[in-house]
Amino acid sequence: MSLTDKLNWRYATKKFDSTKKIAADKLSTLLDAIQLSPSSYGLQHYRVIVVENAEVREKLKAAAYNQVQLTDASHVIVFAAETNINEEFVHEYIDHVAETRGVPRESLKGFEDVVVGSVNGRTPEQLLTWAQKQAYIALGILLSAASELEIDNCPMEGFDAAKFDEILGLKEKGLTATVIATVGYRASDDPYAGLVKVRRPKEELFIHI
Ligand SMILES: Cc1cc2nc3c(=O)[nH]c(=O)nc-3n(C[C@H](O)[C@H](O)[C@H](O)COP(=O)(O)O)c2cc1C
Repeated sequence: MSLTDKLNWRYATKKFDSTKKIAADKLSTLLDAIQLSPSSYGLQHYRVIVVENAEVREKLKAAAYNQVQLTDASHVIVFAAETNINEEFVHEYIDHVAETRGVPRESLKGFEDVVVGSVNGRTPEQLLTWAQKQAYIALGILLSAASELEIDNCPMEGFDAAKFDEILGLKEKGLTATVIATVGYRASDDPYAGLVKVRRPKEELFIHI
């Protein structure tokens, strides 16, 4: 099956089979895909919480309008934006680039100045929006990777971020829950699995110039 076939196969799963768990090697592949997601300047302005614990998931479900995917999927993946993107964050990133690539830190000074300028030129609200946008890119990559492996998935925004932050202790880590994905295997009787995809027609969606 091509990637397009897999994207046609996937759907926002409403009912997961709670008896089916994603195998460790496949979960690891999903996390690889998230780790490899591109981000602006490579800053990776978010962290990703992988929730398996049943008690925690019960609490998350209550904070997500009781959507059953929270407890029935194999795993809940929470993309949490960094709330403290600042010069220090950039300096640490540049240290990491220098170390990883084995290049002198000074050789990255020009790049560092550009990134610091980009950070300092944004208001706190803009910094958060920027970080959250990057998290959505990682979400998209996860959905594609999961579909490629025929792991069902549901992207979800229907949750109370402040409650998630509290349950997961995100505030003290300088994070805020932005978007989540539930991943696992569809229940054989999920009525949504058979629905025809509704998408804007290509002539309307795409503007060729
Ligand atoms: C950012 C985002 C948030 C979503 N939030 C929810 C949600 O909270 N609960 C849910 O059941 N589906 C949610 N969905 C799923 C969409 O309703 C679904 O992707 C859309 O209707 C298209 O259907 P398909 O994914 O089955 O092709 C969300 C999708 C996205 C991309």
